[in-house]
Amino acid sequence: MAAPLVPRVTGLCYGGDYNPEQWPESTWAQDAALMREAGVTLVTVGVFAWAWLEPAPGRYEFGWLDRVLDTLHEAGIAVDLATATASPPPWFSHAHPESLPVDSAGRRLWYGSRQAFCPSSPAYRDAALRLVERLARRYRDHPALALWHVHNEYGCHNAACYCEVSAAAFRDWLRARYRDLDTLNEVWGTAFWSQRYTDWAQILPPRDTPTFRNPGQVLDFRRFCSDALLALFTAERDLLHELCPGVPVTTNLMTGQFTELDYWAWARELDVVANDHYLIGADAREPGAQIAFAADLARSLAGGPWLLMEHSTGAVNWQPRNLAKAPGQLVRDSLAHVARGSDGAMFFQWRASRAGAEKWHSAMLPHTGPDSRIFREVVALGGHLRRLGEIAGSGVDSDVAILLDYPSGWAQETPAQPSVDLDCFDEIRRWHAALWRAGITADLAHPGADLSRYRAVLAPALYAVDDATVANLTGYVGRGGTLVIGPFSGVVDEHDRVRLGGYPGAFTDLLGVRIEEFCPLPEGVTVQLTDGSIGHTWTERGGAPRAEVVARYADGPAAHAPAVTRRGDAWYVGTRLDDPSLARLLGGVLAAAGVAPPVAGLPAGIEAVRRRHADGRTYLFLLNHTDADAEVAGDGAGVLAGTDLLTGTAFAGVVPVPAGGVVVLAEEAA
Ligand code: GLA
Repeated sequence: MAAPLVPRVTGLCYGGDYNPEQWPESTWAQDAALMREAGVTLVTVGVFAWAWLEPAPGRYEFGWLDRVLDTLHEAGIAVDLATATASPPPWFSHAHPESLPVDSAGRRLWYGSRQAFCPSSPAYRDAALRLVERLARRYRDHPALALWHVHNEYGCHNAACYCEVSAAAFRDWLRARYRDLDTLNEVWGTAFWSQRYTDWAQILPPRDTPTFRNPGQVLDFRRFCSDALLALFTAERDLLHELCPGVPVTTNLMTGQFTELDYWAWARELDVVANDHYLIGADAREPGAQIAFAADLARSLAGGPWLLMEHSTGAVNWQPRNLAKAPGQLVRDSLAHVARGSDGAMFFQWRASRAGAEKWHSAMLPHTGPDSRIFREVVALGGHLRRLGEIAGSGVDSDVAILLDYPSGWAQETPAQPSVDLDCFDEIRRWHAALWRAGITADLAHPGADLSRYRAVLAPALYAVDDATVANLTGYVGRGGTLVIGPFSGVVDEHDRVRLGGYPGAFTDLLGVRIEEFCPLPEGVTVQLTDGSIGHTWTERGGAPRAEVVARYADGPAAHAPAVTRRGDAWYVGTRLDDPSLARLLGGVLAAAGVAPPVAGLPAGIEAVRRRHADGRTYLFLLNHTDADAEVAGDGAGVLAGTDLLTGTAFAGVVPVPAGGVVVLAEEAA
């Protein structure tokens, strides 16, 4: 039996952010009673409570938090205790105006919202660690304490600060990385535009300039920003480990859309990988695909089970139009995360706020109160999660990995690229969505990772690569792996310097192609390929001296040049294929590599994901994303057989999945 992700919670975690400081103490007992009714097992307390915990410098008030934790403990609810450092109180910022963040235009950003601090500010760091120490000493033996929740969504609002303190910290970071100025000048390519530095003191964060900034400087600054925030996390974590050994430490990541931090480096430092996910209403992509991507990335970062720390029961408040969830979607979305490895489902937040910027954000307990559809669904979800308890600790089957490298994406995001349409992270999500529609569960992987367990690896957009990555991918193909590389990959090194001798620089040998010239397409223009596929955004002129040409451009600026090639099992796609063409290509390549969905012939809009315990027990999640009842049949070999853990109904052969509903089949051993 795998150890529980949060040792004090058996089964799956269920709950949300609980902000009792926003409510009179008379509501706390009712909160605990309603949490019990809903089957809540874990709540995150105190995320934004610094001003209540330390109302004046060095004056701590823990009595109220003692009573909150005692009340929760009496109700049998475990606590994910926040360190409250995400929002310094006004007294702090007022006393330390130099700790406030500064944007790239030199504008100071003021307090009055949250995360109003410079990540490199010594005053902030000291004050935060003083608070953490007090919290750890006071609560380390509290029986409700199950998990430490450091800060909140690092970098969500203050990922980069350009103040003088940050400038000095950036210089220290650069000195440690490059040792001498000659090396820095070399890797930043400062021979260009007279940018040569002759003294460390001349180096600044990439503040606003008359025109394009040095791309190497911008890239290193983004690395520095990720590291600066990570150092704040590890400082809090180390203190908690020291003072409170045995209680795991987490912070909540945002894998869906947020790309400011190098989460591969972050994940290594977390005891528990926790993730927040909110649907983007304006995004045309299917909600199920959005969830699948965020969840697959969270699981891949964790290398196993992880925890959905926040999502919403209904609408959020921070998009231009905040869409409500359909009845039943709260349950389905939660279980979609559980299907992909979350050992629980948590929400922002327990009780909907009465005041403040998030008063229109949905919650488990809405403004209407418990006599509401949302609360009834919250209670139903609690029952489902209790019945799914035996799933905790299991992994997720996946034979294919999609490569994602944050610094490569950051390098590609610098301006003055051949086309503004050649985004990186969106393209990775688009390939992932193509697999999701085909019923194939993918991991995400760092390009330097051990890839040997995957039958196939996809690199939709891998612009910048170091030599070790090239060796890793070459070795992977050499040992029999299948690799598909998308356009404009491998063209620069880890410092954003062009790899010479033909594109795609790092991969010309592996792929057997030699591209001479990029031919981006005007907005909205498509090209036809000789195999009937459609390309858009990007084409290339060049040859395939050591590769088989699978398709050529039939028209457009690169007419007759190779568009899709393969050298053995190393495939290259030199254009951006439209969704149907991409699905066709990947479908063929993955089938040939032996990658198959968990259930053959899934009806459209039905998602199937399998979780598997080390001892062989398996659970097939079937999620219906359509408005119509559906039936899922085995592939003829009678594979589908088992008991739906949500209803206790046994099925063999054909499994009905109601419109918008979910079935979780505890499968019979084959
Ligand atoms: C984030 C934060 C929460 C809250 C929600 C609103 O996830 O962590 O504090 O602001 O967004 O969606």
